[in-house]
Amino acid sequence: METVLSGIRSTGNLHLGNYFGAVKNFVKMQYDYKCFFFVADLHSLTTYPTPDDLHGNIKQVLAEYLAAGIDPEIATLYVQSDVPEIPQLYLLLNMNAYVGELERTTTFKEKVRSQPDNVNAGLLTYPVLMATDIIIHKANKVPVGKDQEQNLEMTRRFAKRFNTIYKVEYFPLPEPYNFGKDLIKIPGLDGTGKMGKTEGNGIFLADDPDLVRKKVMRAVTDKGPARQNQKMSEPIRNIFTILEVVSSQDTFKYFLEQYNACKIRYADLKRQLAEDIIKLTSPIRERILEIYANNEYIAKVVEMGAEKARASASQTLRDVREIIGYRSF
Ligand code: TRP
Repeated sequence: METVLSGIRSTGNLHLGNYFGAVKNFVKMQYDYKCFFFVADLHSLTTYPTPDDLHGNIKQVLAEYLAAGIDPEIATLYVQSDVPEIPQLYLLLNMNAYVGELERTTTFKEKVRSQPDNVNAGLLTYPVLMATDIIIHKANKVPVGKDQEQNLEMTRRFAKRFNTIYKVEYFPLPEPYNFGKDLIKIPGLDGTGKMGKTEGNGIFLADDPDLVRKKVMRAVTDKGPARQNQKMSEPIRNIFTILEVVSSQDTFKYFLEQYNACKIRYADLKRQLAEDIIKLTSPIRERILEIYANNEYIAKVVEMGAEKARASASQTLRDVREIIGYRSF
């Protein structure tokens, strides 16, 4: 069975875009692949969360992924900082990563531009840590967004370089995993672009029904169609895109016909959309709250995840030490 791995940023909450774009597919994949999903809490230190925020964010991410359907008995769900083998392999890989190539990484250059007062060494070597995350489990497939493709390319480069230096074929070269037709892009509510974390643009799985209604009712629209079958403006197309994903086919068809006949009332459209989103997110939200309140369960999940992740990581580290020449006497 091939190994799939993905790291989850431990900042912010899951929104509908994350849910349909990634998490729902993770849930499906756990039955077909050997899956590792982890909270990337070492990576998150590049932005200095407070100790309370760090802990709370990890807990929130775990609760949300569990609530969305990741089964910790089937997949390996763990917290990165619980696996000391990761920093160990990271140190070894750093020796074969060149400052020049790290400085040329797009994500690094962006950080230099956006936060010139905090260009820490952790940011520079971020791709090495990410490569470590992936190859420590010898993952074959990594589902990532476009913004992470270069980091994945760096991973292949580091893995290949290790194999070349030591004349071994030890690390597989991981490929980006493309959901293909299963990839659903959810647009935002503020008129343009995809759903994100900016104010007013996203619906979070943890939002309560009133907040969902408020956000949807505030979604950007236009003046309404002036002629029959008029091409939709982007904000309206976006609302219909979300409707198509969360509502029944009949509902979608009904509003499409209303639009094409110039009879649509956007307030009705939004009310329906809000209720259908609530129908989808409410059970998940309730599970999030339930899991979040159950420290005992979270502790158990995390312990089990660490155990499985360490078993796999320590095997790799033992092999790597042997390959490099750290041998026992
Ligand atoms: N860099 C990824 C992001 O910002 C998170 C991440 C860390 C990751 N390590 C990973 C993703 C390993 C995939 C594989 O989203």
